[in-house]
Amino acid sequence: MTVLKLGGSVIFEDNRIASERVLEIVQVISDHSSTINGIVVGGGDLARQYIRVGKNRGLNSDELDWMGINATHSNAKFVNQLLDEEYEFLSELADVNRGDDIITGGTKPGHTTDAVSVMLAEKVGSDNVYSLSDIDGIYDTRDCSLEDADRIDSATVGDVKKIIRDQSDSPGRSIPIDRVAVDRIANTGITFTMFDGTSSENLENVLKGVSVGTTINP
Ligand code: UTP
Repeated sequence: MTVLKLGGSVIFEDNRIASERVLEIVQVISDHSSTINGIVVGGGDLARQYIRVGKNRGLNSDELDWMGINATHSNAKFVNQLLDEEYEFLSELADVNRGDDIITGGTKPGHTTDAVSVMLAEKVGSDNVYSLSDIDGIYDTRDCSLEDADRIDSATVGDVKKIIRDQSDSPGRSIPIDRVAVDRIANTGITFTMFDGTSSENLENVLKGVSVGTTINP
């Protein structure tokens, strides 16, 4: 069984919903729903736009995080309605049990949906999280746009901590994976595979067991 993290960056493109891509991903999820027992949806451009306006208005960090969380919930409900078999939407994980089929977004300020996806995997009893975003994995330098940057197929929690150590934790953050999620991977033994989810073919492959992107091992 597996948990999917559907990053907001695959739902939106150029500030609009990437409708064709969303429908393709929804179809793959519907086809494989018997092996997917959790889906966590990110906030993407919707979250970042809310947060930008809130910041200009002087809202504090917690308030801005709640704006991001609201965006994740809206996106999660949107995806859920498109699926053949609906998952139960929850806005927190307290009542989740092993074996439940859950869809959610953010839960509380201070982390991102990366962390929520590992927490949900722990609760429903999945050994791994497959995370779809617009980046194809983790690179061996902090700036993946550098010409000599190489994608790593497999990384340890220690490797990842070094790569993300200077990155911001502010609301609407854009980082490969958040610190809370990395600590959670270390503590739970759940593996986290990040790959380019802008191609639904990659999702098909990952679900078939083909190695794609970067897998973070505890
Ligand atoms: P995410 O950063 O999880 O959305 O939430 P995302 O679109 O998946 O991001 P990508 O695709 O990985 O880039 C957006 C914002 O919502 C708040 C944070 O401010 C976060 O940056 N948030 C989200 C929380 O405070 N708590 C949560 O549990 C989730």
